[in-house]
Amino acid sequence: MPADTPILAESVMWQAIAETVDLFFPKGREERSGMKVVDLGCLEGGYTAEFARMGFDALGIEARADNFRNCNLVKENLGLPNLNFVQDDVRNMARYGPFDISLCYGLLYHLNDPVHFLKTVADSTKKLLLLNTHFAPEHDIRYYLGPVNRYFLAPIQKRTRFLEHQKNFRLSPITLHEGYRGRWYKEWNKHANKSKVEKILWASYNNNRSFWLCKKDLTKVLHNAGFKHVFEQFNFTGDLVPDHYTSRYNRTMFVALKA
Ligand SMILES: C[S@@+](CC[C@H](N)C(=O)[O-])C[C@H]1O[C@@H](n2cnc3c(N)ncnc32)[C@H](O)[C@@H]1O
Repeated sequence: MPADTPILAESVMWQAIAETVDLFFPKGREERSGMKVVDLGCLEGGYTAEFARMGFDALGIEARADNFRNCNLVKENLGLPNLNFVQDDVRNMARYGPFDISLCYGLLYHLNDPVHFLKTVADSTKKLLLLNTHFAPEHDIRYYLGPVNRYFLAPIQKRTRFLEHQKNFRLSPITLHEGYRGRWYKEWNKHANKSKVEKILWASYNNNRSFWLCKKDLTKVLHNAGFKHVFEQFNFTGDLVPDHYTSRYNRTMFVALKA
């Protein structure tokens, strides 16, 4: 990594997570050693490793072979017995739970069944869910323009940022899916072969398009799934990215707690 890139452990993104965890969990390593954490779609296991360093029994779930290999490299080098990884679809998380804490960072907006998945998460989480995700804007006329947006406006805005107050993600018009409002996002061509999909290291895995829930709908899903308290955490990017990150990218951090 370039020398000026902060390492994850020192980043404001991780510190925001760690501070929230400290609010709701005892700080003693002994108490923590009996508690399980899952990191969903863990990429190279950075957050998983930090949870293990905090003393938790941490498991990262990652579908992609290349990422999973890197996770195991991290495990070998850190030598932490409470740090583990499995190569699996996150939809199978119940096989490994239940967990005291679930971290769902940059993953939900890569799924085509977010409502069903959040029910699985709620069933497998005993106390705390940290959910960092994009959501769909309720009003955005660009997304009613179909191919005109996809092939004409979006490429122009990408290059010039012309009138682009919010990033143009080329989403669909508002649609009902799994009983809630949101918009579809195309991840990759549905005819792409498996080896190509394997190499798109940050993308969805078993679905070629994802469904982004509207923010209000997302909070309803969380409540209905069994998280009694749903808060929004505002300092999750610190000053690493511009102030208007949440409104420009339609992305935020939810903190959801069981009763
Ligand atoms: C945008 S990256 C986010 C990585 C990491 N959580 C972070 O915030 O830095 C999405 C990750 O989820 C993984 N992923 C996507 N769909 C998945 C699925 N259905 N099951 C398991 N992992 C998945 C991808 O391979 C990738 O590592």
